[in-house]
Amino acid sequence: MIPVLTIDGPSGVGKGTIANIMAHELKWNLLDSGAIYRAFALAASKRNIKIDNTDEQLKLASSLNLKFESDPHKNKLSVFLDNIEVSAELRTEETAELASKFAMIGPLRESLLLRQKKFKQPPGLVADGRDMGSVVFKDASFKVFLTANVEVRAQRRLKQLHDNGIAGILSQTLEEVKKRDERDASRKHSPLIASKDALVIDTSNLTINEVVAKVMALVKT
Ligand code: DC
Repeated sequence: MIPVLTIDGPSGVGKGTIANIMAHELKWNLLDSGAIYRAFALAASKRNIKIDNTDEQLKLASSLNLKFESDPHKNKLSVFLDNIEVSAELRTEETAELASKFAMIGPLRESLLLRQKKFKQPPGLVADGRDMGSVVFKDASFKVFLTANVEVRAQRRLKQLHDNGIAGILSQTLEEVKKRDERDASRKHSPLIASKDALVIDTSNLTINEVVAKVMALVKT
């Protein structure tokens, strides 16, 4: 059996950071499922595919030429769309907003499922997203759901934007994070929800190392 650790939670909670560190320490594969939704949204917007055109979306989802490369030294995931690196473009707020809109569409989510499941390879997988523990890897061995109050998450998101060379101001980021949370949590298909068997960790007042220690303790039990 290939062990899977799922890390779900809302925008800006630090899932990516924790998932990266865990994958690195455990030497397991890493799935950043948000990057798949973001890359899809970017590809759809470049092709001018509208939010109500499900047929075109499904065609694009099945032909999407998407590759991930992880650099163990930099602890960073690079994403290539049609063989062109789009890692920086994926991190903008525009792409996040569009990804959250496409992510509401049930048939599209289904057509992206297999792509995500393929990441489950030996010796193990750390999967980060919104529905990793509740839908995609329901039978995962270890499930974590991270939370933090919205102000803390907006601050973390802003820092992430700045680290990627993207400008932003706190009040605007706060509104964007709130809007996306609302959409991700209230959608009909695979809403953001903690599965009953997930360990819920409120990270508002925890350092990265403290969160990693809690997640590591779960995996090592
Ligand atoms: O985690 P992120 O910010 O990169 O995700 C971008 C958007 O993609 C998010 O607003 C909702 C969507 N998403 C999703 O619906 N399901 C996932 N497993 C991951 C992301």
